[in-house]
Amino acid sequence: MEFNIKNVCCIGAGYVGGPSMAMISYKNPLLKVNVVDLDEDRINHWNQEDLNKLPIFEPGLKEIIKKCRNKNLFFTNNVEDGISKADMIFICVNTPTKIKGLGAGQASDLKWIEASARQIAKFAKSNTIIIEKSTIPVKTAETIKAILTNTKTTNSEKIKSKNFYVLSNPEFLSEGSAIEDLSNPDRVLIGGENSKAIEALSNLYTKWIPSEKIIKTNLWSSELSKLTSNAFLAQRISSINSISALCEVTGANINEVSRAVGSDNRINSKFLKAGPGFGGSCFKKDILNLVYLCNFYGLNEVAKYWESILDLNIWQQKRITSIIVNNLFGTLTGKNIGILGFSFKANTNDTRESPAINICKDLIEEGANLKIYDPKVNHKQIEKDLGKKVYLEGTNNSGTWKFFDDLYKVSIDSDALVVLTEWDEFSKIDWSIISRSMRSPSWIFDTRNITNKEEIKKNGIKLWEIGVSNNPS
Ligand code: NAD
Ligand code: UGA
Repeated sequence: MEFNIKNVCCIGAGYVGGPSMAMISYKNPLLKVNVVDLDEDRINHWNQEDLNKLPIFEPGLKEIIKKCRNKNLFFTNNVEDGISKADMIFICVNTPTKIKGLGAGQASDLKWIEASARQIAKFAKSNTIIIEKSTIPVKTAETIKAILTNTKTTNSEKIKSKNFYVLSNPEFLSEGSAIEDLSNPDRVLIGGENSKAIEALSNLYTKWIPSEKIIKTNLWSSELSKLTSNAFLAQRISSINSISALCEVTGANINEVSRAVGSDNRINSKFLKAGPGFGGSCFKKDILNLVYLCNFYGLNEVAKYWESILDLNIWQQKRITSIIVNNLFGTLTGKNIGILGFSFKANTNDTRESPAINICKDLIEEGANLKIYDPKVNHKQIEKDLGKKVYLEGTNNSGTWKFFDDLYKVSIDSDALVVLTEWDEFSKIDWSIISRSMRSPSWIFDTRNITNKEEIKKNGIKLWEIGVSNNPS
């Protein structure tokens, strides 16, 4: 079977579907790409004339959208139409952790994958290539194939005439650098059984990616490699965070240790930055999924090993709250604490699994009044994450939070500021302005090691930095 790919559909217009299809349409101008989603609000935002109102913020994204949108890239709620015209369909829907039923709290909830497969079985034409781009448990392609081949038409006949070719093509982009990652990926992974289908997909990528970077494997290796990659990345962060705690009590400095350790080519320097713990929509859910799979196959020791990466991550977040409480004389009741950064990392407006959520909840529980600032996360999102805990002017508040859109207003009457996201602007703060408006003794808790320590100390503020032993007591 030869494939002539002219029309592509992507199911799911999220953090992966939007940017990855923007890049594919940009690099393949003769291809027509329809990104479909059931969520009307999301599609409306993708179609906003004002490119600053796209549903997700990614550096470089709006420039590409401007070039391709309504030329060869379309965002629509018409799922049936998008699927029925496509020669190739990417599945980019969400695959969160199951919250109820068998495997709840660990296994991936594949209901959106299943719904997509059913839509495809119903509306797609024959000989369509189906691509799993969502992160899924190993063996999911089997489920997709089963749905595609067993779905019946309305007159209860099997669709014998329809052929589908299922490929796995996991996405490795990181939020905040999605466009850079898509432009110049370390590799593109394609797993599958049909060499012509693999070649058809590969041809879309070779428009801008050297063919040596395209790794071809069987379906199961491709599916499992994605989970394994995320688990390895998360493991590095838990490893360096565990050492940050040891640095604080031994006289070592985590930045120096990271540098020394990362200079070994076999280890390398990436993903060795200590912080408040990893966040984001994927690391936790993908490791939980790996743990579930290991237990399912009876590999309980392997499951325990990966579970410990998550335990350490929770411990790191709790540890930070305790350090703040202990340094502020053991109580936060009624104290004002400024939170600098709420997204799970810099250069994204995404707050999913952000360590800021747990840390802020714990600080609120301790009675603190939080003044929260983030350059890209809005008030509405923080309310979704923390719930409504309103600060009332002129009353004795305790356990509340308030949103600020000006970083310098956060410091007014604050006892402490906590840096939770490594936004570049936090490394350029004018501490002489901040120190004048804070209450004394004033504290900065820098969980990302990005602030200017000399300036902070020069302005009479006490500084606690993660993984640094000479923190004041
Ligand atoms: P997301 O929640 O931002 O987007 C998923 C979209 O799919 C939603 O807009 C939802 O409305 C839509 N959708 C769900 N079911 C649908 C259906 N049946 N028909 C049409 N639309 C449907 O999710 P995301 O962050 O883009 O992640 C998608 C997948 O990619 C996940 O499996 C994730 O693990 C993986 N992944 C994510 C990232 C990342 O950086 N966010 C990176 C690599 C891989
Ligand atoms: C991660 C992977 O890096 C991507 O390859 C993968 O495609 C994606 O998950 C996914 O499958 O969703 P992402 O979660 O967007 O990407 O962001 P990362 O840069 O990996 O950061 C994750 C978390 O780790 C953040 O909270 C970040 O602050 C933290 N981190 C990262 C550290 O604390 N230290 C580091 O050295 C690196």
